[in-house]
Amino acid sequence: MCQHFHNLTFLKVLMRLLQHILKNPLKSAFYLQKMAKSKYEYVKTFEIEDRLLPNCWLVVRIDGKGFHKFSSKHSFEKPNDRRALQLMNRAAVAVMLEYKDIVLSYGESDEYSFVFRKETEVYNRRGSKILSYVNSLFSSSYVYYWKDYFHDVKLLGPPSFDARIVLYPTDNNLRDYLSWRQVDTHINNLYNTTFWNLIQKGGLTNSK
Ligand code: GTP
Ligand code: MG
Repeated sequence: MCQHFHNLTFLKVLMRLLQHILKNPLKSAFYLQKMAKSKYEYVKTFEIEDRLLPNCWLVVRIDGKGFHKFSSKHSFEKPNDRRALQLMNRAAVAVMLEYKDIVLSYGESDEYSFVFRKETEVYNRRGSKILSYVNSLFSSSYVYYWKDYFHDVKLLGPPSFDARIVLYPTDNNLRDYLSWRQVDTHINNLYNTTFWNLIQKGGLTNSK
């Protein structure tokens, strides 16, 4: 009986509140907004301002997470799988079409670098915005275009990529960065090509 009474009272109060909101929608919205602002808005001060330094080349590099496993799970050809490389290129094209301030991209294996022009004001140069948008667009494009390259090979899990932003203040720094990636990936590729040829054509085992 007592519980029933409480429920009724609660319902009455709720009805009155609803009536009030319906009668004065603007006033109610104003009060709610004011309350949210005054009481909760301070949490915004915990956010970090991450505007990147001006006058620097801005490089976003993404790299596949655990692609050694991912490639064998999907039976990528060794050492280079044309479908996989073309898919990486396709995802990079999607990123470049979206961000016109990217002046150059370079990729190999499971990695890609995107160079934004020095003066870019994309997202007010906010590092976390740039990094997260580029990475998520690349990752979703990789999945979206998968079937165009792998046709009947089913994608067995969601691939993911790590990503970082590096700033280079001089043209020389940027050139050396690109040289470094080119040399590094070339050495890796040369090693893999030699290794797999020795196994596939030379008849050696992995350990030999
Ligand atoms: P983390 O990046 O640290 O998560 O490790 P990872 O397993 O992705 O290795 P890493 O990025 O150093 O190297 C990429 C790996 O992806 C290579 O070592 C290969 O095993 C694999 N991979 C990339 N492209 C190809 C390809 O075209 N064919 C084959 N078979 N494997 C590839
Ligand atoms: Mg990787």
